[in-house]
Amino acid sequence: MGPLTNTYVFACVFLFMVWNNIQPTVENEFIANYSSRLLTNVPENIPVRTLVLDLSHNRISGLSISEFISLSDLQVLNLSHNLITELDFGVFIFNQGLEYLDLSHNNILKVYCQTLLYLRHLDLSFNKFTALPVCQEFGNMFHLEYLGLSATMMRRSDFRYIRRLQLDTVFLTLEDVSLYEPQSLTALNTTSLHIVFAANQNFNFSLLYDGMSTAENLRVVNLKYTLSYKDFPSPSLTLLKKIKTTDLMLDTVDLQWTIILQIFLLIWCSPVEHLTVRHLTFRGPLGKLPEYEFLPLLSSREQIVSLGGSMKALTLEHVRNKLYYFNQELLYREFSEMNIASLTIYDAFMPHMLCPNRTSSFQYLNFSHNALTDELFQNCGTLTDLKLLILQRNKFESLPKVSFMTSRMKSLKYLDMSNNLLHHDGSDVQCQWTESLTELDLSSNQLMDSVFECLPVNIQKVDLQNNQITTVPKGMAELKSLTELNLASNRLVDLPGCSGFMSLEVLNVEMNLILTPSADFFQSCPEVRELQGGHNPFKCSCELQAFIRLERQSGGKLSGWPVAYTCEYPEDLRGTQLKDFHLTELACNTTLLLVTALLLTLVLVAVVAFLCICLDVPWYVRMTWQWTQTKRRAWHNQPEEQETVLEFHAFISYSERDSLWVKNELIPNLEKGEGCVQLCQHERNFIPGKSIVENIINCIEKSYKSIFVLSPNFVQSEWCHYELYFAHHKLFSENSNSLILILLEPIPSYIIPARYHKLKALMAKRTYLEWPKER
Ligand SMILES: *[C@@H]1O[C@H](CO)[C@@H](O)[C@H](O)[C@H]1NC(C)=O
Ligand SMILES: *[C@@H]1O[C@H](CO)[C@@H](O)[C@H](O)[C@H]1NC(C)=O
Ligand SMILES: *[C@@H]1O[C@H](CO)[C@@H](O)[C@H](O)[C@H]1NC(C)=O
Ligand SMILES: *[C@@H]1O[C@H](CO)[C@@H](O)[C@H](O)[C@H]1NC(C)=O
Ligand SMILES: *[C@@H]1O[C@H](CO)[C@@H](O)[C@H](O)[C@H]1NC(C)=O
Ligand SMILES: *[C@@H]1O[C@H](CO)[C@@H](O)[C@H](O)[C@H]1NC(C)=O
Repeated sequence: MGPLTNTYVFACVFLFMVWNNIQPTVENEFIANYSSRLLTNVPENIPVRTLVLDLSHNRISGLSISEFISLSDLQVLNLSHNLITELDFGVFIFNQGLEYLDLSHNNILKVYCQTLLYLRHLDLSFNKFTALPVCQEFGNMFHLEYLGLSATMMRRSDFRYIRRLQLDTVFLTLEDVSLYEPQSLTALNTTSLHIVFAANQNFNFSLLYDGMSTAENLRVVNLKYTLSYKDFPSPSLTLLKKIKTTDLMLDTVDLQWTIILQIFLLIWCSPVEHLTVRHLTFRGPLGKLPEYEFLPLLSSREQIVSLGGSMKALTLEHVRNKLYYFNQELLYREFSEMNIASLTIYDAFMPHMLCPNRTSSFQYLNFSHNALTDELFQNCGTLTDLKLLILQRNKFESLPKVSFMTSRMKSLKYLDMSNNLLHHDGSDVQCQWTESLTELDLSSNQLMDSVFECLPVNIQKVDLQNNQITTVPKGMAELKSLTELNLASNRLVDLPGCSGFMSLEVLNVEMNLILTPSADFFQSCPEVRELQGGHNPFKCSCELQAFIRLERQSGGKLSGWPVAYTCEYPEDLRGTQLKDFHLTELACNTTLLLVTALLLTLVLVAVVAFLCICLDVPWYVRMTWQWTQTKRRAWHNQPEEQETVLEFHAFISYSERDSLWVKNELIPNLEKGEGCVQLCQHERNFIPGKSIVENIINCIEKSYKSIFVLSPNFVQSEWCHYELYFAHHKLFSENSNSLILILLEPIPSYIIPARYHKLKALMAKRTYLEWPKER
């Protein structure tokens, strides 16, 4: 064997293992779900503790005992929608706990029977059996409740083995029926019988009649009959006496009008209490009713009632009419005169219904999804027992007319007018509802604010969802009993107050246009225990804080919190839950904000003032101003004279109190002799007419040096300090060594005011001449 063959064999073995290792979908260790896995066999590795095994929707064609032997706990096995052709119940012989076995929708032709003692549910419907697969062993399965079967032929003897079983439901699927022996079904003992007839075959009415004499609940699907009604087998009077059915449902009915009438008449005279007909199509031709065996008995209404007439509820759903000429008036008359409690005509394109001629027994009328208009039941005083009226999805337009319709219905409690075209423009027309009405559904109409002028006085629940209401008007008449109000999907911009309905307990205002709900809601509505306010475009700003606080105080009255409550505006907060939206107290309280700003300003002013006083800032500012002013003026006056001519050797700055020393000691000594020093002294050289500051600046500018006579007096003189400042300024601007300090008397540093730090710095930095005490 070459390496290539080896690889090939290995790959095959590997694939085989993968194939056999199919894992179920695990939801629970006791459920193995292999549904829709394209399996052709029952997998090998099913966990042994499996209780529920779903093998449905696969391609399994055969079963063997070895596949199930290890599953001793198995209770539920679903093998529906597979390709099994033969079934031997013996394969489940070791699954004694099996209760539920679904083998529907296979191709089973033949069964080999075995008693499965605990089986409760066995479904063999939708298979390819010719005769009913009811074997003798079934008769021992006393737990059986549900039995699904299929066949093309049905004989009277077929049910003989299970005659004694008391079943709950028998489900029969009959495709390609070639034979039905009348009275075959009646051998069954079951509460419910569900028959699905072939869709494309003429229905055998014996099945209906027999079914009606077999089970209390009967459901028949696919009643179609295209042959002439003359051949139609009328029910017999004897049959009528055997009928057991009280609940009858006929689904997918396509019959001639005459046949329908006959069946209805039969049912009418039977003990059937609830009749539901779905997907009803009636066609022509219209003909004379055939001779009924019992028809002469039914010459009057009273007789029908006495004969049986136990009908309580009639439901017609999805009715289509293929009949061209027929007297609708007559039909409406028939319906309206019915002596039943409950009538439903749903999705039938019905444009009208008549008011009953005399006091009617209707308690429940459901005419949803039709073409009824405002003309319905106007001035109708005979519907006095009517409690529930459902007129959803019709073409009603005027709310006042609807209110007039109810005005004489003394027992009406519930009215559903949703999904119509109702509007009310608040004109002079007064609404006139019956006083008994407590619940009203007006959702999905075109109602506006004025609807509140037209609501029944004793109403308890109103649904106004999906209309065009913008506000609840303030001055509306009070609705004292109103406890539930639904205003979802309208155009409200704020929560309504409860001035008009003080007993309100539940309010829904979801999906409106409420940006900032007012926070006084629960004060105005003390009885409200549930407020549904989510899914509004909340604007997350300061005003909303109050609403969020309201949530905290309300103690869980806001339903849907927090998920349904998110910010819509501003843009950057969109999607944030209101629960997570916080602003500081400061950002929202204007007074607090003002007070804080004021305090901050005051502190700032205080700091600036403190700095000014301590560091003498204004003084420096003033001086610099003076200096620049003088400079500017000087420059303007002598534009040609760029260079300042130095006239003096020195400028002497001193305190007036030291002037004695300066005049007697310093000046005479400096000015005497050869090459004497030219001094600029303010008493001598100041130019009159100019300001003192200007003079000082001039003097300093025109001198090589500045001599300062320092003493405690100097320190105390303001002018002296100016002079020092200007001289120092010059020192910096011309960068020459022009300051000479003469210390006349020692100055203790504590007497130099704090603001004269320049002086302090100079004294610390520069050497100064000290005038000795002893000359
Ligand atoms: C198995 O899964 C299918 C869908 O894949 C589901 O419809 C079915 O209910 C499941 N069966 C059980 C027993 O849960
Ligand atoms: C098979 O039957 C079981 C038991 O009723 C059920 O839970 C399951 O949904 C069924 N599977 C499918 C695919 O319908
Ligand atoms: C119903 O079936 C029986 C027996 O096959 C037959 O005699 C009868 O005519 C059928 N009825 C209809 C209405 O087809
Ligand atoms: C059906 O079974 C119940 C209970 O065993 C019995 O009372 C009743 O008579 C049976 N009905 C028929 C028609 O055999
Ligand atoms: C009902 O009233 C209509 C006309 O209003 C009348 O033709 C009809 O005979 C009356 N039917 C009954 C049963 O009173
Ligand atoms: C009205 O009848 C329809 C059809 O039978 C049904 O689906 C619907 O629930 C009924 N409405 C009410 C409010 O009973």
